[in-house]
Amino acid sequence: MIKLKTVDEIARIRDSCMLLNDTLEELVRMVDVGVTTSELDRFARDYIVRHHGKPAFLGYEGYPASLCASVNQVVIHGIPDKRRLKEGDILGLDLGVDLGGYISDAAYTIGVGRISPEANALLEITKDCLRLGVQQAVPGNRIKDISAAVFARAHAAGYGIVRQFCGHGVGFSLHEDPQIPNYVGPGPNPRIKNGMVLAIEPMINLGVDEVEILEDGWTVQTVDNSLSAHFEHTIAILEDRTEVLTVHPNGSRL
Ligand code: MF3
Ligand code: CO
Repeated sequence: MIKLKTVDEIARIRDSCMLLNDTLEELVRMVDVGVTTSELDRFARDYIVRHHGKPAFLGYEGYPASLCASVNQVVIHGIPDKRRLKEGDILGLDLGVDLGGYISDAAYTIGVGRISPEANALLEITKDCLRLGVQQAVPGNRIKDISAAVFARAHAAGYGIVRQFCGHGVGFSLHEDPQIPNYVGPGPNPRIKNGMVLAIEPMINLGVDEVEILEDGWTVQTVDNSLSAHFEHTIAILEDRTEVLTVHPNGSRL
């Protein structure tokens, strides 16, 4: 069941997104060669709590951290650890905030130091997938218009498109209906309506589509160990426009 949000509820979700935006911006400032992802995780948790929020991922279905930190071939749900980031890594930062019961969700992938041209192209095109998906998120369109736009851009580039995980409704809880796949498959195709709050999140690989979950039960990585990128925004469908509620650390809402 899709839970539509009122203008007042969207205002509360917007506040949650603002705390998320500030936290992500600080995290990106900290990323450097030699930094560990657990240092980033601890900062994120402390920053969110200091600003009266709760990390939305911590304890969610048993997830053990506040941040997902996905390095190189890790697609999503990388658990922060003591390994140090090195020059040329790409790091996916995925974070959720609960502010007064209102949930936001965003992800951003950045390079550590200088990265290869191939890695850079992957980041740019995945970002573009998100932008094109968001552009389709307008009243009257359907969810699969978002999916098709994301898919077309990644497919044209020859990249792998992750099937097992998708975007989702968000706001009252972390994962609500509808599901928003990054490809067009069978399944429901609801019309996009005023009051929907959606998390759109392309997960795109330099190699094949297929991913596997590691023994820890969380880490998702590409089966061919190719690099993977992940960008996510929380957006709200308003009566007359679509508002991107999260802002990426480069200042972009798209
Ligand atoms: N942004 C991810 C998602 O939408 C993060 C979930 S991580 C979890 O699914 F730990 F909370 F599950
Ligand atoms: Co999400």
